[in-house]
Amino acid sequence: MYSLEELKQSKGVALYSRAKSLIPGGTQLLSKRPEMFAPDVWPSYYSKAKGCRVWDLDGREFIDMSIMAVGACILGYADDEVDDAVVQALRSGVNSSLNCPEEVELAEALIELHPWFGMVRYARSGGEAMGLAVRIARAHTRRDVIMFSGYHGWNDWYLAANLADSAGLDGQLMPGLQPNGVPRGLLGTAIPFDANNIDSLREKVRGKEKQIAAIIIEPARGEDAPAGYLKALRELATEIGAVLIFDEITSGFRMCAGGIHRNYGVHPDMAVFAKSMANGYAMSVVMGIEKVMQSAQTTFISSTNWTDRIGPTAALATLRKYQRLGVEKHLIDTGSQVKQIWRGAAETHGMEINVTGLPSLAAFAFKSANTIALNTRFTIEMLKRGFLGFRQFKPSLAHQPTDIEKYQIAVNEVFALIAADPASSIDTPLAHTGFQRLTKE
Ligand SMILES: Cc1ncc(COP(=O)(O)O)c(C=O)c1O
Repeated sequence: MYSLEELKQSKGVALYSRAKSLIPGGTQLLSKRPEMFAPDVWPSYYSKAKGCRVWDLDGREFIDMSIMAVGACILGYADDEVDDAVVQALRSGVNSSLNCPEEVELAEALIELHPWFGMVRYARSGGEAMGLAVRIARAHTRRDVIMFSGYHGWNDWYLAANLADSAGLDGQLMPGLQPNGVPRGLLGTAIPFDANNIDSLREKVRGKEKQIAAIIIEPARGEDAPAGYLKALRELATEIGAVLIFDEITSGFRMCAGGIHRNYGVHPDMAVFAKSMANGYAMSVVMGIEKVMQSAQTTFISSTNWTDRIGPTAALATLRKYQRLGVEKHLIDTGSQVKQIWRGAAETHGMEINVTGLPSLAAFAFKSANTIALNTRFTIEMLKRGFLGFRQFKPSLAHQPTDIEKYQIAVNEVFALIAADPASSIDTPLAHTGFQRLTKE
């Protein structure tokens, strides 16, 4: 057990307080802000990560039963097979005046998995790849308006949805994102619609059919898409001549190799992958049908670091291992077990919780008036027991039955503690639930 005092006095907590005076917002990714977990307690930085374990700056060891690098490290941290391939690439030069052959090999492997696509373009992050997909769709259709549901990154095209109405992105996973700095001229170019609701989309499209460049969705996020919805979207996009784009940055590789849309049998015009495709190395891809992808040549899309060798090498090694071992089965089994652990612990200790999500993107929420306080307590108590514990769990291949057994014991202890005194307060700040401005310390 780690004590609350030692966690609060960790090197990571101190470093993060320095970071906030040097880096606006403290980190580069909202989902890695310590405030999202347990402010002033979360270890914040790692010295080492291996398998499903991380070590903080004081050398304390934690089993990661939280977001596993926001879902990026699907095989586990520092996977030997992927890292060996990367080290070899590194030793033979990660960049040069010539291109790396791995990007052609990767294109062939990805197209073999998704034979309805004909071409690819690469970038290195998810938001960037979404920007690229939107540009290609607009160039292809010579139209401006994007209809979307879900979260798609930090780019201007997306935040334009919040220009007129700060509630525009409500219900889209990341409500309240501020569009300051996004040109007002983009007003009306990105229009949200309710996920899984084809009628709401048809209503919003009416009268604008010829302005719509793309319809963008996440084919599944919390749950599988309702039967018929993706097919109806496909029909609507074809009917109005819009490019149908599936953002698979989170859903990709979680339920099968490549896109979850492989399981649904509905083929978009483009799909975008990032995160888990390269087990934590920077890599993203826009795949699409040839007719649409060729429009990339009618606009300027080009960047130096999109040519590095590490991204495609890591993606190829990840894909090979994923396919050889059938990794999806392990992810689904492990996620299902953890969902069951939450349900079982809640039942045993008489607590009400909601358990949601695809098994490989599992989540729970305390049903209580003080949910945020209970979430924060859960995380703090799990930290004391040597776990990065959170209301979400993204399984990896590295999570072994012994890790899950230890987790079950800890979850039961913590649920018992919370159930015994649900109103107990904590002397550190509560977790944030979304985007908030951080004040300089
Ligand atoms: C569905 C979806 N689209 C886009 C993004 C943005 O990707 P990135 O954080 O790599 O820029 C994310 C990241 O969470 C995502 O889940």
